Amino acid sequence: MAGRRTMRHTVSRGLICLALCGFAGAVVAQEYHGNEKPAGNDWVSQTTQTCASCHGKNGVSQTANFPVIAGQYQDYLLHSLKAYRDGDRKNAIMGGQVQGMSDAQLKALARYYSEQDSPLHTPMAD
Ligand code: HEC
Repeated sequence: MAGRRTMRHTVSRGLICLALCGFAGAVVAQEYHGNEKPAGNDWVSQTTQTCASCHGKNGVSQTANFPVIAGQYQDYLLHSLKAYRDGDRKNAIMGGQVQGMSDAQLKALARYYSEQDSPLHTPMAD
């Protein structure tokens, strides 16, 4: 008798696991919409750590070798990133950085950097 009870326990635990795993899978599938790649805040904060190694924290580069990307126009940033990815703007370093990224991911990066405080400014005519 005792043996049988243990067995039933094991089976039901297995079923719970199956149910949970199935649920987790469904959530992931829903979030990524099939082939679409994640471009949410988590992805942005993770990815921009790589960018920071050259472009500085939040895109404020500390060296002349790397452009300041903080506070540039979002449209311009997106245009540049797409151009690097698609090979229209040729740069071995940047081409590699954005290779394989989706439009949504490049848009999220462009938005992020356009919103950062920046030493750049646009002179205004008065
Ligand atoms: C290994 C160093 C390095 C890393 C990492 C890097 N970049 Fe760059 N980035 C550069 C260099 C060098 C340039 C200038 C290239 C050129 O002359 O076109 C540049 C240029 C750019 C430009 C164009 C700026 C302008 O004023 O036209 C953007 C936008 C940019 N990077 C965004 C990013 C983003 C977003 C990431 C992270 C996904 C990233 N970079 C990671 C080195 C790097």
